Amino acid sequence: MTDKPQNAAQANLGLSGAQPSSGEALDAQENWWRTAVIYLIYTRSYADSNGDGIGDIQGVIAKLDYLSWLGVGAIWLTPVTPSPNDDFGYDVSDYFGVEPQLGTMDDVELLIAESHARGIRVIFDIVPNHTSDRHQWFVESRSSRDNQRRDWYVWADSAATGGPPNNWVDHTGRSAWEWDARTEQWYLHNFLVSQPDLNWWNEGVCQQFDEIFGFWFAKGVDGFRIDVTQGLIKDSELRDNPPADDTDHPDVAARGQKYVYNLNRPERHEILRRWRALAREYSPERLLYGESYVFDIPSLAHCYGNDDECHLGLNVPFLLSSWSAPALSAVVAQCEKVLPSSAWPCWTMSTQDESRFTTRWCGNNPQAARCALMMLLTLRGTPILYYGDELAMPDTEVPEALMTDRMANPPVRISRDFERTPMQWSSGSGGGFCEAGVVPWLPFGELDTCNVESQRADPDSALHLCRELIQLRAASPALHSGPYRALPSPDGAWVYLRGSEFAVALNMSEHDVEAACPDGKVVISTLRSHDGRVVDGGATMLSPYEGIVLAVAETS
Ligand code: GLC
Ligand code: CA
Repeated sequence: MTDKPQNAAQANLGLSGAQPSSGEALDAQENWWRTAVIYLIYTRSYADSNGDGIGDIQGVIAKLDYLSWLGVGAIWLTPVTPSPNDDFGYDVSDYFGVEPQLGTMDDVELLIAESHARGIRVIFDIVPNHTSDRHQWFVESRSSRDNQRRDWYVWADSAATGGPPNNWVDHTGRSAWEWDARTEQWYLHNFLVSQPDLNWWNEGVCQQFDEIFGFWFAKGVDGFRIDVTQGLIKDSELRDNPPADDTDHPDVAARGQKYVYNLNRPERHEILRRWRALAREYSPERLLYGESYVFDIPSLAHCYGNDDECHLGLNVPFLLSSWSAPALSAVVAQCEKVLPSSAWPCWTMSTQDESRFTTRWCGNNPQAARCALMMLLTLRGTPILYYGDELAMPDTEVPEALMTDRMANPPVRISRDFERTPMQWSSGSGGGFCEAGVVPWLPFGELDTCNVESQRADPDSALHLCRELIQLRAASPALHSGPYRALPSPDGAWVYLRGSEFAVALNMSEHDVEAACPDGKVVISTLRSHDGRVVDGGATMLSPYEGIVLAVAETS
């Protein structure tokens, strides 16, 4: 299935096809995603190789050495398949091709080979909930009621009153139904009008996606991030959603209805199990990371199934938590309690759909952002960094005239452009993202104050802190996999143990805090001048937003 390994990095990925020598090695190979840091790249925004102002696959290839230096174990690219770009790749018009703005199939193959040569896995994004309305399947489906693909999408007659079939609203807050005058029926779109939902009750759709997964797995893709798993299948009777009430998350309440019948259907689990079985056919088993946009931990637990659905699920309660020690530690405590022991936690602070953590949580305070990075990289489970997180890159203000995101979602979000602006590689024209003078597809943030080049030159930077935390985590099983145990923490702080070897103390407040810590030595402090400090006798003074990783002294 895969080529012979060319070097040690590739052999470490288990790409030789040869069986590892010991059970432990097999385990490590199968479970690479438990110890790796995953790095999410908004493909259009990482690096432009050909002067059109749009990031592309060759651009990512050019940055692999940087990613290898940073120490990430896997990269996840937002969709690279052809798309009219109404939703920048999340409106797919061909699942077997490569979007010309982003590159070619040769580029994809090179990306996979070059990543593997550096010991980095490649995760692609798959969009099974909906396609572009320009996908050939939909063109056929809407051509007539008798077309063989008619049933591949969700079509319905008008309600008795003459309007849309039911009360479902899409993610922009409008009716989720679009009238098709030619065939005199409505089609469903949970996202944009140009993103018709597929009908997952149809076996032809299921088989088609088996083929799509297989196609990319055979190319060497190490896993998929599965878009909108919660939406995969709809109520077969298309019943009205019930009204939202004050028990609902504000994002749900803003839509006025509970997502009971258009999302979160129990039948989706069968589809996820089908894909897990498919992933298991490959050795090492390919990763499935589900976008599970659900607002509570018990619902997130469902995404994992009985260790037979997704390996990892997007942790929305963590992502959307407020920034405070009690709020974040409560989410973690609940995950520890509610996720079954086979379900591996997963943590992400920023995505292409939410304001960056530096801005949303930390009000652009660099010290607080460093504390957040320490939290992310010391929790039990898999951390996902969004490109630029390692620099504590803030959101960029994008003037209305330059906004590109069509999924305006007021009052929840005005635009997702703010968190999608180009990666800030250096100061000066082009910012290292594109050639000087080229206009990038979205404007640059503050290049002078935040960029890779200057942070690489500064050992005290967020980038170096992040890299050291990644290195320590990689070298310390206790940090990625050791048991998590919260310790009594004073107001504003969060202290926890990782295994018996490490304690982490985070001051998430703007005041000095004295926290009781085990005796030990500070291995990494967010205030670098405190590195190496010896903690003796328990009470440890933490400066505002200071975080420390403590190597706990052995007790004999
Ligand atoms: C997911 C993606 C988002 C996209 C949506 C529709 O939520 O993260 O960017 O717009 O799905 O595909
Ligand atoms: Ca380009």
